[in-house]
Amino acid sequence: MKAQEAPHLRDQLKDIQGMLRSGYGWLQSSRFWLLSIRDGHEDAARAWLAAKSGLVVSAARIGKGKRVENAVAIAFSYAGLTKLGCRETEAHPFPTPFRSGMGSKLREQLLRDTPRDWRWSDVDGADCGPVHVLIAEWTPKGAGPLITDIDEKVFCVIKIENDPCSFHDIGGEEKLREAFGFRDGLAQPVIRGLKQDDDVGKDRDEIGPLYDDRLVSPGEFILGYRNEYNELTYCPNVEGWTQSGHAKYPGGRFALNGSYLAVRQIKQNVKAFDAFRDAYGQEVCNKVMGRQDNGLPLGWKYDPNNPISDSQADAFRFRVEDANGFVCPRGAHIRRVNPRDSLGTDVESSITSTKLHRLLRRGRPYLEESKDDTHNGIFFIACNADLERQFEFIHQRWVRNPGFGTLHADDPIAGTDDPTALPKTFSMPGLASGQEVSLAAFTKTLGGGYFFLPGIAALKFIVGLPVDAKETIAEPAKVAAV
Ligand code: HEM
Repeated sequence: MKAQEAPHLRDQLKDIQGMLRSGYGWLQSSRFWLLSIRDGHEDAARAWLAAKSGLVVSAARIGKGKRVENAVAIAFSYAGLTKLGCRETEAHPFPTPFRSGMGSKLREQLLRDTPRDWRWSDVDGADCGPVHVLIAEWTPKGAGPLITDIDEKVFCVIKIENDPCSFHDIGGEEKLREAFGFRDGLAQPVIRGLKQDDDVGKDRDEIGPLYDDRLVSPGEFILGYRNEYNELTYCPNVEGWTQSGHAKYPGGRFALNGSYLAVRQIKQNVKAFDAFRDAYGQEVCNKVMGRQDNGLPLGWKYDPNNPISDSQADAFRFRVEDANGFVCPRGAHIRRVNPRDSLGTDVESSITSTKLHRLLRRGRPYLEESKDDTHNGIFFIACNADLERQFEFIHQRWVRNPGFGTLHADDPIAGTDDPTALPKTFSMPGLASGQEVSLAAFTKTLGGGYFFLPGIAALKFIVGLPVDAKETIAEPAKVAAV
């Protein structure tokens, strides 16, 4: 690809995996399969994955007014790509965080994950060794699994089953709630030229007055497009790709239309959170999370006669309305992970800076039921194009930073699970019941990994499918508009 050229996003929708466009909110069951390919079974693994690749939904099949009945996404760890025979080129290797893996010692330190006693990772794992492949499937409520034929001679399998109770009726619509009882998956960036198109035709009231605060360049999430620096996001390449005929965009590298997934299996201690709620009340829990449990911003009143859309419920800022955190404490989960307009020196520069650290969240609540350990949790998935600048920055500097701002405390929800760091404190300026409360560790990370979510042509290349002559991804004539 010549310097400073990119395809038009709209022309590439058939090649982009659908989870970058939608969280499949209408498909209320979900399952995540973590697969390690057993030594000597690479060919069988490739053949099985090739058969499953037909279930993968592209971004062209969903969007405004278009829904699918089931969806699948397939992603690979660095160990997985290597196991399946992909070799990065010397000129365009994968970036360091992905190559080293979330499970590496270096990432453990950078993410402030010490001490770790994980069950699985992209680098190693107690039972199965490194996870090579992540398959996500979304099906209608109550439907059984789509994928039923994993051969355990070929793969060592960890299955993460969805929590069947995670959707609730809120204002006549089924909405996702995580196990502490809060609406989740609500605040999301709007990808310019992709998700934005789905909002065309909605009036300003419906999309919320601060829509532009959420509009983020596609290159922040999809590789090969312009990012918030107005630069083309770096695309790694692998040997054989350019000659394979799979690349539909002239000169397009292997990673074009892909993304990186930062994945963490996070166990939630619901008993501890309930005990905290009993001791301090729902209002304090809301302050800790930074939202009301029904998803409304703190301080907003719910009017059943005038329900608001998710977009409207995301239309708020902190700097002017709530500089000192009297409404939403500065250490609250949502204020740390997305400081909105309170990062830089003024509203405009803050929003510009915050857009460099956004995540597209695609995780789902899960329920593990076993003899030894029945628990709820979140299978957290964040899509981003630059793991260091997005997921890792947020985790290291905001979520797990004990010296965050002037607060001297890390995130009350997703902060450290190191028992020696307890009890943690949380400050709430101006609350009648007191300024500061002590917290238990409400969550514990059980595993994690970085995965590459390839474009659909790259997926076919990885699993050894031939080039399909019928399939065309329209090629743009000129330099990208986005
Ligand atoms: C079990 C652990 C976690 C729980 C229970 C949890 C829960 C929530 C809830 C209830 C919300 C508000 C609803 C919404 O905006 O969709 C939220 C927002 C968010 N969370 Fe988490 N979360 C967890 C872990 C994490 C982690 C590890 C990260 C990132 C490293 C993260 C990043 C975010 C972001 C970026 C938002 C959107 C904030 C906004 O834009 O206002 N969360 N989370």
